[in-house]
Amino acid sequence: MKIEHNKSLKKYNTFGIDVIASEFIEVTSEPELQNVLSQNPTRELFVLSGGSNMLLTKNLETLVVHIAIKGITVLKQAKNTVFLSVNAGENWHDFVQYCIKNNYGGLENLSLIPGYVGSAPIQNIGAYGVELKDTFESCEAIHITTGKKHIFSNKDCKFGYRNSVFKSEVKGKYIITNVTFKLTQNEHILNTSYGAIENALRDKNISTPTIKDVSEVVIQIRKSKLPDPSEIGNSGSFFKNPIISSAQFLDLQKSHPDIPSYKIDEQNIKIPAGWLIEQCGFKGKRWGDAGVHKKQALVLVNYDNATGKEILTLSQKIQKEIQHRFNIKLETEVNIIS
Ligand code: EPU
Repeated sequence: MKIEHNKSLKKYNTFGIDVIASEFIEVTSEPELQNVLSQNPTRELFVLSGGSNMLLTKNLETLVVHIAIKGITVLKQAKNTVFLSVNAGENWHDFVQYCIKNNYGGLENLSLIPGYVGSAPIQNIGAYGVELKDTFESCEAIHITTGKKHIFSNKDCKFGYRNSVFKSEVKGKYIITNVTFKLTQNEHILNTSYGAIENALRDKNISTPTIKDVSEVVIQIRKSKLPDPSEIGNSGSFFKNPIISSAQFLDLQKSHPDIPSYKIDEQNIKIPAGWLIEQCGFKGKRWGDAGVHKKQALVLVNYDNATGKEILTLSQKIQKEIQHRFNIKLETEVNIIS
């Protein structure tokens, strides 16, 4: 474990933004992490996991701690359940593939999501009708200033749509080191109700899908519309889908009869931000190396050498236009580091 100086973070964030960390350290075990914390008791730290949900807009003068603690352990198995303890530095998609290989069900809809296991609870990652909270049992986290370990149950995490206690009450206070999942073995509960999954399975003539089939179609769907961060820098959905009142929705529907929507409850409707952005003409547009993806308007991209500030400026331009045209406030899903 050694401190590296003036290290480029381009390879450590999926947006591929080239900022410099004045000091950078990689930890591969919990004792190493405890060591870093006890040696830097008063120092501000920047915790870097998979870097898949952040936009870096400036060089970092703080000590950057990259969490690379790996390992998967089967804790216990019962008739139809298995509890897996997974260290924070495991790559999310590799872990999902490990589950598919071992016939552990519950995470197949979350295939191909970039990032590490340790950051998945922070924003309660979700896709195709499934969220992390559905299989999350608990996580271990180290308190940054005291070094004490704390266990957060599913309830403690207060999961919501792309939200958790780690983004609110205890934001920046803990480092997640390990997550325990409760998955199925043998009798899986598949979630194939999402339109695109149903259609893809039908196209393949699969009527009784396995978890592997579901994983494969999710991968196929994601590849067809989301850019691969190893080819084009991006952080997935840049904004959250906004939730508006039913009254505002009915009003908007008068001028835009084709507006897509998902009912949350009697009072609230979720609108796909990608649709709003496309309506404003941003889809596929490019300003220098910063742009809006051509197949999914919710994804902002770095074609090569865009700066974080250029991406941020583009995102603000989009927010302003959506506010102006639809009177809707778009919130970022991505963490802006400014
Ligand atoms: N749409 C457009 N134009 C676009 C994109 C979308 O009109 O350019 C409309 C279409 O009507 C489409 C609808 O939006 O039917 C929904 O699009 P999509 O199925 O791609 O889902 P999304 O709402 O844009 C959300 C998540 C994704 C997740 C997908 C699938 C958020 C912020 N994003 O996107 O998550 O993969 O659903 O479940 O909730 C991520 O969080 O990084 C992410 C990729």
